[in-house]
Amino acid sequence: MSKLIIEGQNTLSGEVKISGAKNSAVALLPAAILAKKKSVIYNVPEISDIDYLIEIMELLNCKIEHKDDALIIDSSSVVNKPIPEELSIQMRASYYFMGALLARYKKVEISFPGGCSIGARPIDIHLKGFEELGATVEINKNRYKITADKLIGKKIYLDFPSVGATINIMLAAVGAKGTTIIENAAMEPEIVNVASFLINMGVKILGAGTKRIEIEGKEDLDRGVVDVFPDRIESGTYIIIGALLGDNLRINGIIKEHVEALLLKLKDIGVKYNIDGDSITISKCNNIKPTHIKTLIFPGFATDLQQPITTLLTQAKGKSIIEETIYENRFKNTIDLNKMGANTRIITNNKLEVIGPTPLKGTKVNATDLRGGASLLIAGLIAQGETVIDNCDVILRGYGFLEEKLTSIGAKIKITE
Ligand code: UD1
Repeated sequence: MSKLIIEGQNTLSGEVKISGAKNSAVALLPAAILAKKKSVIYNVPEISDIDYLIEIMELLNCKIEHKDDALIIDSSSVVNKPIPEELSIQMRASYYFMGALLARYKKVEISFPGGCSIGARPIDIHLKGFEELGATVEINKNRYKITADKLIGKKIYLDFPSVGATINIMLAAVGAKGTTIIENAAMEPEIVNVASFLINMGVKILGAGTKRIEIEGKEDLDRGVVDVFPDRIESGTYIIIGALLGDNLRINGIIKEHVEALLLKLKDIGVKYNIDGDSITISKCNNIKPTHIKTLIFPGFATDLQQPITTLLTQAKGKSIIEETIYENRFKNTIDLNKMGANTRIITNNKLEVIGPTPLKGTKVNATDLRGGASLLIAGLIAQGETVIDNCDVILRGYGFLEEKLTSIGAKIKITE
């Protein structure tokens, strides 16, 4: 298991570029299976989740070439094989093979996906959607066998606007006869990114990015070409780091609308920044005000930035309240934050109180999940002395070139085995 060693309290300046979005890329790769041709995905992030997806796709006989930050995926000779558990549990997004393989072969066999342990994370909404399109789902322990004689487009209402379920049903709907309408769909940018790839393959899709998406099933898709959107969570993480340690730190390649909830919140609590096209310049704020944060579906405050901003609020003067409404178990990082000197307390299951400002001190901590690990990384950057984060592989699942990017702007950080 790798460790992240950080020598804290270094001012950060210069420029850093945001990579392609993990949560888009992990859906775009399985989506490439839909076209029986060579598709190209540009701006793919260098993260371990992508490596595992490539392993699964090669097992299915996809031919994948790397060219700079692009992946050229040839799906012409895909073989529909059961996906073994040791691969599918490596990440949550392996569930997108359900929708993609169901669309192309009307059959898929896979184990329950993995991912960060931040709550129960069932996939009932995905499965209900497949069933509504005409599939049968058999579950044997952890193994899912989904089959259909044919899929027929239908109006499907999601009980919750789940990102994963919206994308998965959209993928399956490509293989259905007629029109599928997803009501109460998720509106996150990842959905728009996947829809634009499918549209490029010739699929008719209306309304991606709104609560109602219409997909017309289509056979014989063309090759698809797509750019992965910039990662809004990586953007938000570096913006938070800039608000704590920046000296005119310039973060390039952001889409302002994707991080708007964070930017407005930061403005509210006294952080100053300047946006110029797709770049933001930000410096340390010495007088951060406390606030109330409630995580919501897009365009609300992203749950994936809740743990990183908790670290920032340990430096605000007064009491902040953080309400997590998407996941049941997303405050695990606070145990180690408190160990570093923070004053946080879970008031109820989904409400956290943060009292600041508290100086943080480097110590040995453990990353329990990806964004919780990011919150400890930020804590290590502002702490006095040395912080050692164990199990840092979970952080590398979502932040490409982490050591290189942070070192280039002046951080003292090292990853060791
Ligand atoms: C995706 C992101 C994750 C992000 C989350 C919310 C990926 C690979 N991961 O996760 O980083 O935190 O969106 O923005 O893109 N739910 C159900 N039944 C379902 C599906 C979801 O009850 O069938 C619940 C979940 O347990 C959770 C909530 O709905 O409480 C949101 O989940 P969802 O939007 O599906 O998130 P993911 O797609 O898993």
